Amino acid sequence: MVTEAGVREALREVMDPEIHQNIVDLNMVRSIQIDGANVAVELALTVAGCPMQSQIRTSVEEKLRSLTGVEAVSVKLGVMSDEEKKTLLEHLHPAKEAKSPIMDAESKTRVIMVSSGKGGVGKSTVTVNLAVALARQGKKVGILDADIYGFSIPRMIGAMGQPTALGENTILPLEAHGVKIISMGSFAGEDTPVIWRGPMLMKALEQFLTDVVWGELDYLLLDSPPGTGDIAISAMQMLPKARVLIVTTPQASAYKVAARVGLMAKKMNLTVLGVVENMAYFICDNCSKPHYIFGQGGGEETAHSLNVRLLAQIPLGAEVRERGDSGEPVALHGADSPAGQVFSQLAQEVDKEWQ
Ligand SMILES: Nc1ncnc2c1ncn2[C@@H]1O[C@H](COP(=O)(O)OP(=O)(O)OP(=O)(O)O)[C@@H](O)[C@H]1O
Ligand SMILES: [Mg+2]
Repeated sequence: MVTEAGVREALREVMDPEIHQNIVDLNMVRSIQIDGANVAVELALTVAGCPMQSQIRTSVEEKLRSLTGVEAVSVKLGVMSDEEKKTLLEHLHPAKEAKSPIMDAESKTRVIMVSSGKGGVGKSTVTVNLAVALARQGKKVGILDADIYGFSIPRMIGAMGQPTALGENTILPLEAHGVKIISMGSFAGEDTPVIWRGPMLMKALEQFLTDVVWGELDYLLLDSPPGTGDIAISAMQMLPKARVLIVTTPQASAYKVAARVGLMAKKMNLTVLGVVENMAYFICDNCSKPHYIFGQGGGEETAHSLNVRLLAQIPLGAEVRERGDSGEPVALHGADSPAGQVFSQLAQEVDKEWQ
């Protein structure tokens, strides 16, 4: 016989595709009615016109039809009342404090700030690929695009939608390739310049940490703007347990600029996690030999000057750029691509280095 408890148990296996929790715990199941072999459920969606509604409906129908004794299923969709939404928000952000749990000294989330003294050396490319490589190794990963006005993460990782705002202070991050993402780009739109002064930038950073429902993350990667400006200082102050991953290019002259961010991190009592040398060499199709287009030694020099390890040397290659432009980071291909392989080793090194 079909029972309400049985139906509820089955519904516990249906996840909200955005929040990644089951619809029963999220209080989305308003009523269950059973009439012999017919089951009717009413669900309350978080927002009107929820883009995921047909997915939720199908999952519920499939799940209930698979129950023994059920012949027909009807699903009615409504929208949460203010009261229901309040309960949901309390569930998602229990005892929501002014500060993000990630900023808490007890937080288990490892925060990595991907930084460099210079622009265009590949911070965003490293952020996205390291995040994907960590996620492929089973870690729960988020990216906070701290390059508030120079954002590039949404395109690079292929997360071009808009995050859902559940309440005034609750934002669900986007997700792509198993990585949660928040970026100013998702709110401003790619062609809109963000023209803000320091305090507004800091506020945005704080909101991205505090208002976004990150859940339990193993790693949160911050893609920093170049240099040692306002945002870098604020991020380091807000996240004193973060570790800084320095990205540099191989020119011997680059290390002084790269090392500046490392020295700033040390001054602010943050640990430098290590150095990544990007665009380290180019493997020619014809001769298969490495060509050192941007010189050699920058990564080693930077690591040496900061007394940390050089964790990876990423090859220069059209594939890295093209896949970044198309939102399919090269790290998705793991060992099937030379650069993907290096990113997957970098993820392992990062994990080891942190122990
Ligand atoms: N290893 C690589 N091989 C080929 N192209 C690369 C590589 N790394 C980065 N690029 C390309 O170089 C450009 C700059 O990279 P990216 O945007 O990651 O740098 P950035 O340090 O984040 O820049 P900014 O300081 O502007 O934020 C991008 O077009 C990217 O695709
Ligand atoms: Mg960048």
